[in-house]
Amino acid sequence: MSLAALPSSFSRVAVLLSAVFLAVNAQQTYPATPLASKHFAYPTGIPYQADTDPTLIRGVQSGYNLCNSTTEGDKSLCQTSFLNSLDDFCLWAPPKANSLIADTEGEEVAWCTKPGRGTRLIPPGALQGVQFMKTPDYVQVVGFIDQTFINMVADDSGGELDLRGNPLGGLVYSTAWGGSNDSYTQVIEWHNFMGGNQFCFKACDPAGANAANFCQHVYDRIGCMYNAPNAAQNGTFESCLGENQDFPGVYTENGAVVTYKQPAESLGVISSMPYQPRVPASSSCTPFTSASVFAALGTPTTTAGSVTGSGSNKPSSGASSTKGSGSAATSPSATSTGGAEALGVGIVSSVVGVVFAAVFLS
Ligand SMILES: *[C@@H]1O[C@H](CO)[C@@H](O)[C@H](O)[C@H]1NC(C)=O
Ligand SMILES: *[C@@H]1O[C@H](CO)[C@@H](O)[C@H](O)[C@H]1NC(C)=O
Ligand SMILES: *[C@@H]1O[C@H](CO)[C@@H](O)[C@H](O)[C@H]1NC(C)=O
Repeated sequence: MSLAALPSSFSRVAVLLSAVFLAVNAQQTYPATPLASKHFAYPTGIPYQADTDPTLIRGVQSGYNLCNSTTEGDKSLCQTSFLNSLDDFCLWAPPKANSLIADTEGEEVAWCTKPGRGTRLIPPGALQGVQFMKTPDYVQVVGFIDQTFINMVADDSGGELDLRGNPLGGLVYSTAWGGSNDSYTQVIEWHNFMGGNQFCFKACDPAGANAANFCQHVYDRIGCMYNAPNAAQNGTFESCLGENQDFPGVYTENGAVVTYKQPAESLGVISSMPYQPRVPASSSCTPFTSASVFAALGTPTTTAGSVTGSGSNKPSSGASSTKGSGSAATSPSATSTGGAEALGVGIVSSVVGVVFAAVFLS
């Protein structure tokens, strides 16, 4: 029945009621001061918790932001995260073993590569390849990880963590724009995709005019390939400068600029995409070995081959592509397996990721 068919007094009441409902609902979902606009200086202005609003419909902050030597280690519930450089970044991942990102996105904690800030540390050997890139508008890390080391289910295709309260109270800082390694800028716009043993984490310079566009957070079902197109390679550790990506979801078709609209979950699986994202050019990539970059994490207890990617004789079987490369699936970069083949895998991976993408609240 259309609204026009209803008696006008009824429709006015209905509209009023739904407006009230929406207002109440909005109030319960988001704090009066949205987390995204709360500013805290690091390290001097960090509160115990950034988000203490009891009306949050999704519950209260599960960890804390004030982190120090007493909180550091594998029990840490620190939710203050950093993205500074190839050797100094954190990822959002679950506090408890064997978790799915979709079940825990509100409560993820910071897992970092550098001790000294009260967080958990990414276990040695977990990181299998990482590319750090600084561009005019953001810094980004993209990489490969054995995600079981950071409490994720082995084949979890994962999902998106972002500024909108995933996790609740999560704060992100970077030294990328402060002029020194001790000068931290609070990052307001950021997104971090975790899943399929891959990750991408982008932190947009708050001084940039387009921070909200580059760190867009509405495309939670289409992973790193579309949100952070990149040429990161498994087994390679490198620090690069690069051009900006296009805004996620924005592409050019027949000379016209088009904005992709991600379909609602209720419409089912996203089985095809109307565009291939452009992978921006990188420059002055400096290669490192895992051992030199992540020395602070210690020596892996697993075989060294799995760390550097050079010693593994395992054929890349079909199992790895069915296994996932889920929501975080990285771009179809030209790798040693051959560009075309890699492209095919990339596309399949992103579809598989979309198929298994679970329900995300944001
Ligand atoms: C260390 O962090 C914990 C957890 O946030 C906090 O309760 C404690 O007061 C902090 N200690 C200091 C000395 O800041
Ligand atoms: C700042 O951090 C970068 C990346 O970790 C490091 O290469 C550089 O040596 C540091 N600079 C100083 C002055 O410590
Ligand atoms: C990355 O390389 C390691 C070591 O060869 C391998 O075990 C892992 O499955 C690869 N990750 C992905 C996502 O392909």
